[in-house]
Amino acid sequence: MLLRVSDLSIRFGGIEALKKISFSVRKGEIHSIIGPNGAGKTTLFNCINGIYRASSGMISFENHPILGEKPHKIARLGIARAFQNIELFKGMTVLDNLMSARGSSMKYGLFRAALYAGRCSREEARCRDQVETIIDFLDLQNVRKQPVGSLSYGLQKRVEMGRALAMNPKLLLIDEPVSGMNSEETEDMARYLLDVNEEMQITILLVEHEMGVVMDLSDRVTVLNFGNKIAEGSPREIAIHPEVIQAYLGESADHTASV
Ligand SMILES: Nc1ncnc2c1ncn2[C@@H]1O[C@H](COP(=O)(O)OP(=O)(O)O)[C@@H](O)[C@H]1O
Ligand SMILES: [Mg+2]
Repeated sequence: MLLRVSDLSIRFGGIEALKKISFSVRKGEIHSIIGPNGAGKTTLFNCINGIYRASSGMISFENHPILGEKPHKIARLGIARAFQNIELFKGMTVLDNLMSARGSSMKYGLFRAALYAGRCSREEARCRDQVETIIDFLDLQNVRKQPVGSLSYGLQKRVEMGRALAMNPKLLLIDEPVSGMNSEETEDMARYLLDVNEEMQITILLVEHEMGVVMDLSDRVTVLNFGNKIAEGSPREIAIHPEVIQAYLGESADHTASV
């Protein structure tokens, strides 16, 4: 197993956001975490990459315990995160955004990353080669010198994924990569996710609301609801699982009620 989560719990005041969650991610797979709004999906990601510290339980990556480690250390071990809301430097070019992601995986962090220009070390030349490979892979050549803020939403999401890939991860955590996208952008992103998994051989842990994407891409799916794990299985098993259907019916009822 690449990632193993056991009995993970975290509470915020009165809310138990995760209740003894256990699941594992196998090397090479695309594993999706789904569940209605507020189920605990983003919180789970925040625990895995060290932004939140779980109250109890265990997380190990390549058989090495990581719970309690700092986010930058976890990133260096090979877990990269693309965020649900785009977190890019909007005034900086695509190229510089990707270069600075590499920088933050280097020793001196963001400050040094901002100073990378003009330096000419072997490390930076290698880093630049890797970044150029990612730019080609994600078909960002035409916009590499453009400020990220000037790009379409779909392209910004792709750059956000590129930033995570620039850290050279073994495991990519990606939170709602197609949210807010039109159907063409969604298809493109799904294709890139598959390519990242198959060609770059990066294992993916995906949180996604768009069920078509989850069904098409996932090898396995874990379902959360109100902080509990309610199911795990293949996309087909999940699609016909009574508790899962019930959880989503509850959600659409909430939507109707709030309209
Ligand atoms: N930093 C926080 N402080 C307080 N409550 C939080 C915090 N982060 C998440 N929560 C709560 O944890 C629950 C799960 O949230 P979240 O993980 O964002 O859900 P999801 O991503 O599945 O929609 C929600 O009830 C949310 O309000
Ligand atoms: Mg979320």
